[in-house]
Amino acid sequence: MEQLKSSLANYEYCELKKGSRNLVFSSGDPDAEVMFIGEAPGREEDIQGVPFVGRAGQLLDKMLRPIGLTRDKNNLNEKLTTTAYICNVIPWRPPHNRDPSPEEIKMMLPFLKKHISLVQPKIIVALGNISCRALIDQTGITKLRGNWFDFDNVPLMPMCHPAYLLRNNAAKKDAWSDLLKIKERLGNLA
Ligand code: URA
Repeated sequence: MEQLKSSLANYEYCELKKGSRNLVFSSGDPDAEVMFIGEAPGREEDIQGVPFVGRAGQLLDKMLRPIGLTRDKNNLNEKLTTTAYICNVIPWRPPHNRDPSPEEIKMMLPFLKKHISLVQPKIIVALGNISCRALIDQTGITKLRGNWFDFDNVPLMPMCHPAYLLRNNAAKKDAWSDLLKIKERLGNLA
């Protein structure tokens, strides 16, 4: 994992790196059963060098708790029974939070694939369209969400991005139903 992080830190071919303050590598437990994959860091993440620490990240943490997940291994108890690992398709903040281009996604995909193979999650959650484009080559998150897909023999669930949920209260109901499917699948794996 350290090698992957340093390969990214030394990678000079992605323009997004130049405009960013920090490499935003990951957060959570690298031995986690569930791996959440977002889009790209925002302002707060760029400053702190940690994914999902801004408003969307706070919502993500809130969503994890009721299904027994935490990104902090030290928080494990009788209610928080499993850990999560979190990263992004793109590890640098795009200027003005623009969407990463298909070329940028393609360029960074081998790193993401390596990242997934190191974590060996039992379940992948693809947060939003950028993540779905990278991992299952599909977009249209409102149709994709709630259905299971396969990524290299790992079950993958697309979900609406928490930043979208912050703007669309009505979508929270669907997100809750997706979270319950993830919990059920995790239970079946145990
Ligand atoms: N949105 C993302 O997709 N990733 C982050 O790390 C923060 C916000």
